[in-house]
Amino acid sequence: MRKVLCMNYGWKYSPTYAEEMTKTDFDDSAWEKVTLPHTNIELPFNYFDDKLFQFVSCYRTSFFLRPQYAGKKVAFLFEGVMTYGKLYVNGQFVSEKKCGYTDWLADVTDFLHVGVNSIAVMVDSTERPDIPPFGGVIDYLTYGGIYRDVSAIITDKESIEDIVCTTQNVFPDADLKVQVCVSESAIGGKLTVMVRKDGKILAQKTAVAKQRETDIQFQHLKVALWDVEAPNLYEICVRLKGHDVRRFRYGFRTAKFTTEGFFLNGKRLQLCGLNRHQAFPYVGYAMPKNAQVKDADILKKELCLNLVRTSHYPQSRYFLDRCDEIGLLVFEEIPGWQHIGDEKWKALAVQNVKDMIVRDRNRPSVILWGVRINESDDDHDFYTVTNRVAHETDPTRQTAGVRWKGCSECLEDVFAINDFMTVDDPLPIRDTRFMTGLDHDIPYLVTEYMGHMFPTKIYDNEERLVRHAVRHAEVQNSLCSDPRKSGGIGWCAFDYNTHRHFGTNDKICYHGVMDMFRTPKYAACFYASQGDEKIVLEPATIWGFGERSIGGVVPLPIFTNCDKVVFCVEGREPLEFFPDSEHFPYLKHPPVVIREMPDVWGDSWRPVRFVGYKDGKVVAEKRYTPSPFASRLELVPDDSEIFTNDVTRVVVRAVDQVGNVMKFFQEPIFIRVRGAKRIGPEIVSLQGGVYAFWIRSQRRGKAVIEVGCNSLQTETVTVAIKGKEQKKNL
Ligand code: GAL
Repeated sequence: MRKVLCMNYGWKYSPTYAEEMTKTDFDDSAWEKVTLPHTNIELPFNYFDDKLFQFVSCYRTSFFLRPQYAGKKVAFLFEGVMTYGKLYVNGQFVSEKKCGYTDWLADVTDFLHVGVNSIAVMVDSTERPDIPPFGGVIDYLTYGGIYRDVSAIITDKESIEDIVCTTQNVFPDADLKVQVCVSESAIGGKLTVMVRKDGKILAQKTAVAKQRETDIQFQHLKVALWDVEAPNLYEICVRLKGHDVRRFRYGFRTAKFTTEGFFLNGKRLQLCGLNRHQAFPYVGYAMPKNAQVKDADILKKELCLNLVRTSHYPQSRYFLDRCDEIGLLVFEEIPGWQHIGDEKWKALAVQNVKDMIVRDRNRPSVILWGVRINESDDDHDFYTVTNRVAHETDPTRQTAGVRWKGCSECLEDVFAINDFMTVDDPLPIRDTRFMTGLDHDIPYLVTEYMGHMFPTKIYDNEERLVRHAVRHAEVQNSLCSDPRKSGGIGWCAFDYNTHRHFGTNDKICYHGVMDMFRTPKYAACFYASQGDEKIVLEPATIWGFGERSIGGVVPLPIFTNCDKVVFCVEGREPLEFFPDSEHFPYLKHPPVVIREMPDVWGDSWRPVRFVGYKDGKVVAEKRYTPSPFASRLELVPDDSEIFTNDVTRVVVRAVDQVGNVMKFFQEPIFIRVRGAKRIGPEIVSLQGGVYAFWIRSQRRGKAVIEVGCNSLQTETVTVAIKGKEQKKNL
């Protein structure tokens, strides 16, 4: 038997802490009732004190142990407690955790009794210099609270403690090693390992667990490989007879960085990615499943990327599960930012390497472990250990470590470097050997570019938004020109809240190709246009005669995967434009760039149509009016149905009569939600004509969402809320 119980409900929360709060008989009846994931404080959107979330709080709940579980092993799994947690069960101290990003598995067997047990967690969300990433300054906020799920895992004393799958070979067929680790008392038990697809058993083997670790080998498995286009997943199911069953999804693939680039299943794949911070407006990190899933979908399906870097820490299981499902490759790294602490601090960082890898080593999406503190200086002894521990914990994957300095010591398998050039530099990305300082090639990956070199807000003027987008295109073009570079990961996917030392002084780094609500800037359209799954036709303009300096809209890049764009100004001869392969020879889909405009101004500034063609057929059209007027609010929820205790995003756009966003429509809007909780304030301003917010479901039923403003009609949408416990395979 294995039982995983959700412990997200029924918590009480106090924003202050005193030791007596951990006692069984402490009266918490006046405390706020909360559901996890929870943020210790809801923050304003911007312009706040970056110390607001840095305090010690306390969470209490009760755990009912049913009589049938007497004598069983019980562990509580906290998936994310920021930053330092101490667990008390029935007034007794159980364990502590010094990392806000990795699993905290606390064995509570000896502290529980049948019936009601009191649980208290002290949560210190200050930036403790003894815990990575702290000790220096960091360019992001870490927020606070029990911000991910908590579960109780109940097993027999005889249990499966861990399973490690390694694909040893995929050609012509797959060879798989399944290493099963059982508890001491399970030695002698019978193990069955199954590889299944859609409920059907593909292969099955049995073995006796002669010691804690047993290797079970499968050869010549005829499987469909996992890759970015077809992320085929199988189920590995391991049974310990009479006691335990564990199952999880698995994909067969090989992944290798070489001096000629990155190879997935033996085939070179040009990597194109962005960095992701797991932060959201108002609630920081405390976002349930759907928001995590949606981010992965945005990166893969909207931005057509094949790689994400979980900058700068291990991210949610939900996010990574989705990466496995949709074929988004992951570079996962340990928490850290420029600063290296003392020996104890380093020991925690080494532990983080281990915890990250143990949690995620069965994921096909993860192709690289980041075992250096992001952008730190060399530290030979420290990084010798992090690399060794990574290789011991996972002999199949390569390591990398992100540096900012060229010619630094590379103890990792892949030289990973942030290559920040100014937007005007004729060289968007530097040469590999210049950066490594070596006279030979080594596996190479660019892990950041752009970011602070050209911060850009969604409501910036068109020239800046265009330059931002074009520079992303120039960098990608340059990356694609050199096969030795495996590709690059831009800074970054989404704008994020940060400390006073960074970003604009409102506590935001406007470095994303999307804003904090995941609304695309033109740079996002560039990435989207590199995909082939759906047609993209995005002229980078609002078609305003006087928006840009001096007037006009050229140079006008059109981010598209069409092979021809016809530009039709009303009353003029249509003009044909083709992808600019002269300036972007290496891009899969170079933007179409209109560099000169026919002489249109004054009264000849007319409606325009951009018509996209592919293989001689019209596949898309975008229209603009020279005189947009406020027409309506568009209200689009990401989901029409969600489960209880989850979220969905609702996007609000103010559009003109032809359906284009009115970038400078700044009216405040009101947001009223019934049947669910609105995250963020009731009255907000549109930003670049757009706003988005999340609603969080509580009870089953229906959420009714109403959005209105002064001059436009109020719009209403509904989202159905179904009740179902989220099942977890832990
Ligand atoms: C890098 C750093 C990132 C972010 C970025 C801004 O140096 O690794 O975390 O701060 O700069 O461009």
